[in-house]
Amino acid sequence: MPTAKSDAFVFFGATGDLAYKQIFPALQALVKDGKLDMPVIGIARSGWDVDQLRKRAEDSLKEHGGVDQAAFAKLSKQMQYLDGDYGDAQTYEKLRKALGDAQHPLHYLAIPPSMFVPVVKGLAASGCSLGARVIVEKPFGRDLQSARALNRTLHRFFHEHDIFRIDHYLGKEPVQNLLYFRFANSLLEPIWNRDHIASMQITMAEDFGVQGRGRFYDEVGAIRDVVQNHMFQVLALLAMGPPANRSADAMRDEKLRLFRSMRPLRAEDIVRGQFDGYLKEPGVAKNSTVETFAALRIHMDTWRWSGVPFFIRAGKQLPVKCTEVLVRLKNPPQQVFDDPSNGAVNHFRFRLNPDVIISLGALVKEPGEAMKGHPVELVAHRHIRTAMAPYERLLGDAIDGDSALFTRDDCVEEAWRVIDPILGDKVPVHKYKPGSWGPGQADALIAEAGGWNDPRVETVARGGR
Ligand code: BG6
Repeated sequence: MPTAKSDAFVFFGATGDLAYKQIFPALQALVKDGKLDMPVIGIARSGWDVDQLRKRAEDSLKEHGGVDQAAFAKLSKQMQYLDGDYGDAQTYEKLRKALGDAQHPLHYLAIPPSMFVPVVKGLAASGCSLGARVIVEKPFGRDLQSARALNRTLHRFFHEHDIFRIDHYLGKEPVQNLLYFRFANSLLEPIWNRDHIASMQITMAEDFGVQGRGRFYDEVGAIRDVVQNHMFQVLALLAMGPPANRSADAMRDEKLRLFRSMRPLRAEDIVRGQFDGYLKEPGVAKNSTVETFAALRIHMDTWRWSGVPFFIRAGKQLPVKCTEVLVRLKNPPQQVFDDPSNGAVNHFRFRLNPDVIISLGALVKEPGEAMKGHPVELVAHRHIRTAMAPYERLLGDAIDGDSALFTRDDCVEEAWRVIDPILGDKVPVHKYKPGSWGPGQADALIAEAGGWNDPRVETVARGGR
């Protein structure tokens, strides 16, 4: 397996939204860390020149983290711009020339999924794919069939170990911490099973709408945008078995085993919602039935998890921006004291965004004669702002050829297999008010497992220290 560092960074979609929000800040950070000493070639079909691209990069940095004069000057010098249509052979001939004697270019497809195939074919026909790696943005396909077709096309021109399917959640420090916390400690594993865990739930709430991305979003919806990828990756880290070691394939083998154990979703396992006002967003079809909210119940057929329900809830225009996992433990077999916990005595909380919290919820006795208690949380808390941005980490890893934080072909396809039966309009989409927790039907889905947790309930306030 070639582990040579990439020697040219090419990004398609250079004038687009993703480049503006994520790629330029990551590139500047990589230059600053001395990890991007190579030509940086932006490609788009906007009729620009390199100075316009530099200006765009500067504007992007002003908005996202700030311009570091020295690093930006270096990046500007390395930057080239190629204008061309992605379906035109000449675009790739120009690229071939611009690559000069680079042996291992890294091609990043920061473009809509419908353009992946023509670009990959263009790279191959021009020889730009030789010795190269490719980064593919999410969503990877629209369903199982299209993901398989895309994998087949990619495999015609690239080895699997040279394909980097990006899911920026895997590059997040707190998501990595989930993996670390589970497998660096011995305390969780003995109880991390059906004998001790009652249920797990993941909430990914966003308190804003589609932010001008209506056209993209209306082709995708919440399930394809964040559930099949981000949420399933978090679920995998929560529920998978211990990996044999930290190699990319050891991790991905365990994830694959987990995805394979997941039952295909049925209509009764999902609630879809759409916030009032979505249909007025620019780019959204007037009669769109695309969901901006989804709640799901997932079952896994394994000895470890048989009978334990897993829930995912993700949506736009919810009351708060927060991604949080709540693991509810089974209650003591006998209730000796009055229960002040509303029926869920112990839990683990993993807050992944916007701050990082790992905590254990428990009951302690109040001082005094009465055997009365109250809930506390034993909190390990670390602020998120010190962490490296996910795109910097992931692009740096792809440059080094390290695929541990990227998704493998079989894992992506298994995730689609689970989701596939409920895609489209198989279940109705219910309206919900912006600022609410989505349609009321989502509450019924989880009622038997104690309901959704409200991440706004301040852990420390609840427990004291
Ligand atoms: C992206 C989705 O992948 O993730 C967006 O396309 C979503 O719709 C975003 O808002 C959330 O990422 P983060 O890092 O802000 O939680």
